[in-house]
Amino acid sequence: MARVASRGIDTLEPTYQVADSVTKKFILGSVVGLVVVTLLGLILSLERTGSLNSGFAPLSFLRLRPLHIQAIIFAWLSMALMGAIYYVVPRMVKRDLLSGALGNLHFVLQWVGIVLAIVTLLAGYSEGREYLELIWPIDVAVVIVWAVFAANIFGTILKSKATDIHPGLKFVSASILYLGLNYLMGNFIPLNGIQDDNMIWSWAHNAVNGWFMVGLMGVMYYVVPMLMGVGDRPNVNKTLSTIHFWSLMLFIPPSVLHHLLYDEAPVAVFWKEVGQWTSVGMLIPTGIWVYMFYNWVRMRNRPLNAAGHFFFASIVFYALNCVQGATQSVIAINQAVHQTQWVIGHAHLALVGWISFGLIGTIYAVVPLLFGREYSKSLAGWQLGTSVVGFTVMWLALSMAGVVEGGTLQEQGYLSYYTLKSTLDPYLQARTIFGALFTVSTVIFLWNVYRTVLAPAREPLYAEAKRIV
Ligand code: HEM
Ligand code: HEM
Repeated sequence: MARVASRGIDTLEPTYQVADSVTKKFILGSVVGLVVVTLLGLILSLERTGSLNSGFAPLSFLRLRPLHIQAIIFAWLSMALMGAIYYVVPRMVKRDLLSGALGNLHFVLQWVGIVLAIVTLLAGYSEGREYLELIWPIDVAVVIVWAVFAANIFGTILKSKATDIHPGLKFVSASILYLGLNYLMGNFIPLNGIQDDNMIWSWAHNAVNGWFMVGLMGVMYYVVPMLMGVGDRPNVNKTLSTIHFWSLMLFIPPSVLHHLLYDEAPVAVFWKEVGQWTSVGMLIPTGIWVYMFYNWVRMRNRPLNAAGHFFFASIVFYALNCVQGATQSVIAINQAVHQTQWVIGHAHLALVGWISFGLIGTIYAVVPLLFGREYSKSLAGWQLGTSVVGFTVMWLALSMAGVVEGGTLQEQGYLSYYTLKSTLDPYLQARTIFGALFTVSTVIFLWNVYRTVLAPAREPLYAEAKRIV
């Protein structure tokens, strides 16, 4: 406990040394993960247009694509989100993290798992199930890592004596349960054929929505109001927050059916309509979340800093992502975009535009507090500019490619790979060029975070950082 003077009142505040030491490791690790992930994406993009072909099997498109996806899931997005959860949960319940040893064990095990995933996928060991490519021994390791993480977080919550429940806590708790249950279902229920296909989509959909999206929202419930200077209890209308949470819980599971809307999908029309309408229903939590963010920005007592700008961009991309998602969930529209570059664009809009920008904002918000040093504002500005331009054009190029591809396929039916290649090449080349710009932005990020961490501690800057978040 530390004695702090707040609004003229001297109070006892818990300290969060254990939580902070674990958070630091995850955040620094995740920034390395982000650079690796984007470099893999860049190589894939060059290979997709035929600009790069090493002829070396481990570096082929078919082996690097699953690695890009698994590294996104475990080395960047989960690593950063877990770090952020280690930071916010103790503060939400006003008690330090249950166990530093468990936190460190989690960090080591997660990297061991990532290295094993890299080696096995590059060597060609894959289950061949999209988004679930890892072989079973690594699946078992993932479950162990999750159990260590969940025990530490839920143990912290259970040991806390806080009576005032932070509204973000239910989002974070639900997201951790989503991750674990979903991973168990996706990997350990033996299914074949169509049923297995359905299970694969169920995992992918629930992982990105139930774990990454709900988890990031929980983190932002704490970090954004703090950043805006409107207090650590986020001044939200309780009814609205309850509707936000329960509409997500209600609509996320059935809207998995929107992955099976295309004509040949082995699903009855009734279930496709359930998928269509529950996907449109997802616009309810979307509207509430955008409105809440707008309110926090409107009430702010401080100018927007780099973290605030990244959060702002993430909310714009989130709104676009959900409007696009609801549109492509209309059964008739889905026939035109399914299995085209449009969907690859949507996947990037979701996981780069919304989730990655949100996590970058979170990292910029907490790094000055964790390390007692301020990052370079000019480097952060360069990163913001290159990432927004790079990503936006990359997404537009994929969306345009999707429209052209969908239109041509609708008109002419089947097209050979080579005809499609020449039609799509200009858009895919644009994806490479602007994807490279986005990749540069992640290197700037890595440099900015590491030079901040390694800079000598300077008390006045720390005091400034304290005011910013
Ligand atoms: C944080 C950064 C990134 C995330 C979260 C991300 C996410 C994803 C996801 C989820 C997929 C699978 C898409 C699907 O199955 O529909 C994918 C595939 C891909 N990504 Fe990324 N990506 C990132 C960065 C990049 C960058 C910077 C590039 C290009 C320079 C890129 C190029 C690709 C390519 C070429 C594919 C394969 C597409 C295909 O199968 O034709 N990615 N990425
Ligand atoms: C209102 C919200 C959303 C709706 C209605 C929606 C709808 C859809 C639909 C219909 C598809 C399948 C397209 C097809 O293959 O024909 C899709 C794919 C996808 N969505 Fe969303 N989406 C939404 C939000 C999100 C969010 C928030 C994320 C991630 C955080 C996300 C990540 C993805 C990914 C990664 C795919 C690609 C799956 C693949 O490889 O085919 N979506 N979405």
